[in-house]
Amino acid sequence: MQIESPAAAAAAQPAAVAAAANHPIALPARLGHILSLDDFERAARRHLPAPVFAYISGAVERNASLRANAAAFERYEFLPRMLVDISRRTTAATVFGKRWSAPFGLAPMGISALSAYRGDLVLARAAARENVPMVMSGSSLIRLEEIVQANPDAWFQAYLPGDVANIRALIERVAAAGYRTLVITLDSSIAANRENNVRAGFSTPLRPSLSLAWQGVTHPRWLFGTFLRTIAVHGMPHFENNYARRGAPILSANVQRDFSDRGHLNWDHLRMIRSLWTGNLVVKGILDPRDARLAVEHGVDGIIVSNHGGRQLDGTVAPLRMLPQVVAACPDVPVMIDSGFRRGTDVLKALALGAKFVFVGRPFNYAASVAGEDGVRKGITLLRDEVSRNMAMLGVNDLRELDASYLLPAAA
Ligand code: GLV
Repeated sequence: MQIESPAAAAAAQPAAVAAAANHPIALPARLGHILSLDDFERAARRHLPAPVFAYISGAVERNASLRANAAAFERYEFLPRMLVDISRRTTAATVFGKRWSAPFGLAPMGISALSAYRGDLVLARAAARENVPMVMSGSSLIRLEEIVQANPDAWFQAYLPGDVANIRALIERVAAAGYRTLVITLDSSIAANRENNVRAGFSTPLRPSLSLAWQGVTHPRWLFGTFLRTIAVHGMPHFENNYARRGAPILSANVQRDFSDRGHLNWDHLRMIRSLWTGNLVVKGILDPRDARLAVEHGVDGIIVSNHGGRQLDGTVAPLRMLPQVVAACPDVPVMIDSGFRRGTDVLKALALGAKFVFVGRPFNYAASVAGEDGVRKGITLLRDEVSRNMAMLGVNDLRELDASYLLPAAA
């Protein structure tokens, strides 16, 4: 008889996890209550100025997409198998030829260096230490070159600039920096209706005001530990990576951010990108299986099924609902997914429905805000432990064993 022991489970984990164990995670005592990814959100709500928290947590209009994302997981229930020897199980998963310690990574998140000191760098370092992928957002305040130096396995996510010369220049810059995987976000050809941001006093650039100053003063840990420290050490942050050249500053009374018109972008632009980019090309924001098929026909190497965490078109179908159809339409490329994932059970449901990988955003932003690199590592560890524990209870040793036979539609 073999009974799972923590030691046996640890032995089944890849070497990178063992290596990370040599750098113990130290969270401040005030964060001792963090037991799940959701706990980081509560901590970040207290830590961050209201407009910054609203930008991260918010979605659009009535938040219908945001709610649908969370509710989608409840449409499925697990059907576990018994008396499977799970003592040697592993949470490792491979995508684009690299074996990661877990089947999830850090989704791209804009302006992370506003909520956490050197936020993108913190995310990149934590991901490298824990051997999970980190996708660097193009809408960010630290130069993309610095991130790939810190984490050579990072992926880069771009919003397409609106014209061919700028697209070409950005792609050349990303390639020259050493990125090997480029993610193009397709669902943001125009800005979404982020009413909640306006109501909360958030804009890019941030406009100096008495109420913004008050928010800073009433959140001193963020004011001194993130904002003023950034300005003192690195100067005023600018959007660094939307184009090959530098963009607008993050705080300004009169500068307009350049949202060059992306409304005319079409499949020909994707074809052009494919001809320019020799690395792995991933498109993010696909929901319709017909678009997934078209993307594959245009030569992409992977798809991220996504509704942008509910932040673009309100009332959009949850990506999890469309996942089986997209997987069926694209059997030859890895289909990945994001939007609403918070639990190991969420991750396992998506894998059982055919996803090769899952990306998780907001919780890691909160974790970076409240506890820096160790906070993000703690979040990765919590989610990876949930995946491992739930694999054991499902009777699964290797994530590739998961298929739809482990799920049933939830009872009505
Ligand atoms: C950026 O990607 C955002 O959703 O705000």
